[in-house]
Amino acid sequence: MKIGIIGLGKMGEALVSGLKNSGDSKSFVVYATTRSEESAKEASDKLGLAIHTDNRKLTSQADILLLCVKPHQAKAVLEKISPELTSRHLIISICAAVTTQQIVEWSGGKCAAIRAMPNTPCLIGQGMTVFSPGFQVKASQLAVAEKIFGTVGLTAVVEESLMDGVTGLSGCGPAYIYLIIEALSEAGVKVGLPRKVATLLAAQTLMGSAKMVLERGEHPAALKDEVTTPAGCTIDGLMALEDGKLRVTLIKAVLAATKRSKSLRG
Ligand SMILES: NC(=O)c1ccc[n+]([C@@H]2O[C@H](COP(=O)([O-])OP(=O)(O)OC[C@H]3O[C@@H](n4cnc5c(N)ncnc54)[C@H](OP(=O)(O)O)[C@@H]3O)[C@@H](O)[C@H]2O)c1
Repeated sequence: MKIGIIGLGKMGEALVSGLKNSGDSKSFVVYATTRSEESAKEASDKLGLAIHTDNRKLTSQADILLLCVKPHQAKAVLEKISPELTSRHLIISICAAVTTQQIVEWSGGKCAAIRAMPNTPCLIGQGMTVFSPGFQVKASQLAVAEKIFGTVGLTAVVEESLMDGVTGLSGCGPAYIYLIIEALSEAGVKVGLPRKVATLLAAQTLMGSAKMVLERGEHPAALKDEVTTPAGCTIDGLMALEDGKLRVTLIKAVLAATKRSKSLRG
């Protein structure tokens, strides 16, 4: 599988590491570009890949193109490579708020396009990537996208009208979670724990609880009940959280980010 990464920045690098470290690494050949010669050299030295700045050459080298530039750069890049595109190509764009219709239009309508929303834990292979396939995408092409992004975490598919919500939840979500970890760590310090221990307790508690939800497949409320002994300590903590409106605050955070994602399209 010949993969061309257009825009080898933070997210592009995460994908290169994932593909390199996957059990299936021999089935991927990766090519990549950046905008400047300087960053191409820097990334080449760091990743041991031949990275250049010619997107048209990259398009002729690869069959699957991962568009990883900033959203406002997507149109110019796709218009530039359009003469090299053929029906053998598949474009997978991770550009926030750029629709499959825009990708198809800007690239001249010659190939299929999938919109993807990954998140930063892809950098350590624990990402969440959500896809929305354009109308001409075949099941085999979606399977290719799942295979590539499956090397850096979990994947899911939704219809495109839900992608702003995906951005608001899993795309921006790591920032909400870091805030929660930071707050729990502060709480640990307040009750006398050393900072390092408090942060470890907060982060590992969050990770273990998240794994319980994923692995047991039970409703989070049922798992919460397991921790909550009648007249015990946890119910007092939960009461304080309800009093502070934690639930509605998190819901409002996702709504605000979803609204912002929608507004980016103007
Ligand atoms: N970060 C996140 O949490 C996140 C989550 C989901 C989706 N995304 C999406 O991922 C995309 C990339 O984000 P990022 O954080 O990885 O950005 P980034 O680190 O700034 O990387 C952007 C890369 O694009 C390159 N580039 C710019 N114009 C180019 C061109 N004409 N040809 C080839 N390469 C070009 C840049 O090269 P130079 O360094 O030479 O300029 C840089 O390597 C964005 O569209 C964003 O919406 C990000």
